[in-house]
Amino acid sequence: MVLPGSNVVVGPCAGDARIKEVEFVKSSSRAKDCPKDDRPEFAILGRSNVGKSSLINSLVRKKEVALTSKKPGKTRLINHFLVNRSWYIVDLPGYGFAKASEAARMDWSSFTKGYFLNRDTLVAVLLLIDASVPPQKIDFDCANWLGRNNIPITFVFTKCDKMKAGKGKRPDENIRVFQELIRQNYRQHPPWIMTSSVTGLGRDELLLHMSQLRNYWNQ
Ligand code: GTP
Ligand code: MG
Repeated sequence: MVLPGSNVVVGPCAGDARIKEVEFVKSSSRAKDCPKDDRPEFAILGRSNVGKSSLINSLVRKKEVALTSKKPGKTRLINHFLVNRSWYIVDLPGYGFAKASEAARMDWSSFTKGYFLNRDTLVAVLLLIDASVPPQKIDFDCANWLGRNNIPITFVFTKCDKMKAGKGKRPDENIRVFQELIRQNYRQHPPWIMTSSVTGLGRDELLLHMSQLRNYWNQ
């Protein structure tokens, strides 16, 4: 069965996807300082303001587990949340924050790149793409960098509720164009899924997909 609003096929590996409890563990400013244990984790990555923290709150069904803001640049550290005492969700600072100084941007890349390259327990990166705006080069640059470093990604389209996107085109059109561009770069199309933190669209599907990835990883 293919999950609605995605290209994810559910197989025998899909397990219990429910989130029963979530606990904030710590904020780290360096990859070295992240929790040291062998529980699997998912990193939430994407442009500043794409909805990373909102997605985490939607997945765990709590309003303010991860702090959100209308102003970009709210999340500045690597934040670990422990789910069901068995796996982590990691909220990361956004990239492409135009107002950040050059030095702050360089700092972002060295510290998050350090995290990606050294985190053995990373199951996959959920790369969030704003579906309410046309495809952005910076998102492809990021996807390509992760691909070159063999880090598995799932594209998570956010803000799919914004059907009458002001300036941009409609989300379904933006997603179509985005996927067309991805197809030119990947032999195998990575998993993708449509979500909205406002309506809850795709929440259960994404949790099921993550449970499947965890179970593969655990094997
Ligand atoms: P940084 O931490 O600054 O990198 O941002 P972030 O990616 O964590 O974004 P955040 O979750 O703080 O959300 C940014 C803004 O987008 C907030 O005003 C949210 O309310 C809004 N937003 C997030 N997700 C959605 C969504 O699914 N639909 C709509 N309509 N708005 C959303
Ligand atoms: Mg955030």
